[in-house]
Amino acid sequence: MAPRNEEESLSVERDVDVPEEKAAKQPRIDNGLSLRNQITAAPRQTRAWETFRAVGAPQFHVAPMVDQSELAFRMLCRNHGATAAYTPMIHSRLYAEGGDKFCDETFSTTVADRPLFVQFCANDPDVLVKAAKKVQATVDAMPADADGKRAGIDYVDLNLGCPQRIAKRGNYGAFLMDDLKLVSRIVKTATSTLSIPVSCKIRCFDSVEETVRYATMIVECGCSVLGVHGRTREQKDLTATRADWDKIKAVVDAVGSRVPVIANGNVRHYDDAIALMNYTGANGVMSAEGLLSDPALFGRRVRAGVASMTSVDEAMAQRTRYSEPDPSTAEPVGALWPASGTEGCDLLREYLELTREYATPMRMVRAHAHRMLGEWLKEFHDVRDKLVRCHGTPEEYRNQLLEVSDDLRACIVRTERDFPVEKLTDRALRRLEEAKELEERKAEAIRQQAAEESMLASL
Ligand SMILES: Cc1cc2nc3c(=O)[nH]c(=O)nc-3n(C[C@H](O)[C@H](O)[C@H](O)COP(=O)(O)O)c2cc1C
Repeated sequence: MAPRNEEESLSVERDVDVPEEKAAKQPRIDNGLSLRNQITAAPRQTRAWETFRAVGAPQFHVAPMVDQSELAFRMLCRNHGATAAYTPMIHSRLYAEGGDKFCDETFSTTVADRPLFVQFCANDPDVLVKAAKKVQATVDAMPADADGKRAGIDYVDLNLGCPQRIAKRGNYGAFLMDDLKLVSRIVKTATSTLSIPVSCKIRCFDSVEETVRYATMIVECGCSVLGVHGRTREQKDLTATRADWDKIKAVVDAVGSRVPVIANGNVRHYDDAIALMNYTGANGVMSAEGLLSDPALFGRRVRAGVASMTSVDEAMAQRTRYSEPDPSTAEPVGALWPASGTEGCDLLREYLELTREYATPMRMVRAHAHRMLGEWLKEFHDVRDKLVRCHGTPEEYRNQLLEVSDDLRACIVRTERDFPVEKLTDRALRRLEEAKELEERKAEAIRQQAAEESMLASL
């Protein structure tokens, strides 16, 4: 098929693989890209920034979460400061081949659910394209709302970060890091075939250099927004390992002028979100665990000059760096921050209302209820037991949850505290014990010294 215009002809040409010896002979400019790649990549980069700006250059993203970033939860977070959201990961083959019932249960959206990243896992470029076209057709077929507004998809996202055993068995997610040629084929095919921009969410390699090479390769294949989770495939325990902000920063330094980068890892509260953007220079952040504990995390405070970003220049100007907190010395994440006081109860009530509007499977509602009330439930066991016993039809279940939430509210008010009593981790307990032992040894030494001094004085 003949390219329609010069820009398209350049990007089509760029997709042709250049043999390595030939590429090595091409003139290179200081960023390491061949001249031809620089010329051909430029229009695509312009498009990447234009698209990002067109959707409001969002900074605060709801991360993709299987069974947890469903429509009702996305809308809750959007009501409280999130400016973009990812769907849970959708299996491209199951979706592409699935019947209406499966597809309707797997994906739903609404007019206000924008900007929206629809995430797929895939290991076959054609299957990803088929699934993406199907989801696009589904959204296109949705009726307009009363104001004539329509739902839409802003990015098709490729999951390159899932580290679970199921991803290993299915050869997708982070296990594609073992087959970079396949990653390249998937991204190139998707970006050159789909009309929706393609974004990717990656994990890091052990070394900074390999991580940067990987990110650069993906961007050169046409990825429009790059999400970077600062952990490796092996670092599965999110609360035990701190995400490596230095690796994210290195990726931003390498590709951040070409495409927007969204940083991910260790955002527990609003200050973390700002610190992560400032430390890495990323254009936005995404949070998963933090939002599950406090869906209003992104709306807690707005610092002047940071919340809005409408131009590439502004994005660049925001790349001021300061080292707070120092990720190389900081502790692993540890306890997450729940919403303060009775806010978790209010958020649950609002979420339950949203699940009336947007049908949500009970297993997801249950998981969210536990997370939103979670930390306080550790203090009030009767309420927790009542929550565990909730059952019935969706409406009955919702009403019982509302009752539980009201019970908990009454308990919290009685404590006159904003936060639940912190449960110490084993590590923190050990450290306290060590500190106590040290104090006892010091006191013993002082006692001995005093005894010796008084003995000497009596001689
Ligand atoms: C319950 C849950 C489900 C997740 N599902 C997905 C997913 O579907 N796709 C994905 O790319 N990452 C998924 N992740 C990973 C998160 O998107 C995110 O990268 C990770 O939790 C690190 O961010 P955090 O430190 O803010 O939690 C999931 C995480 C959690 C906690």
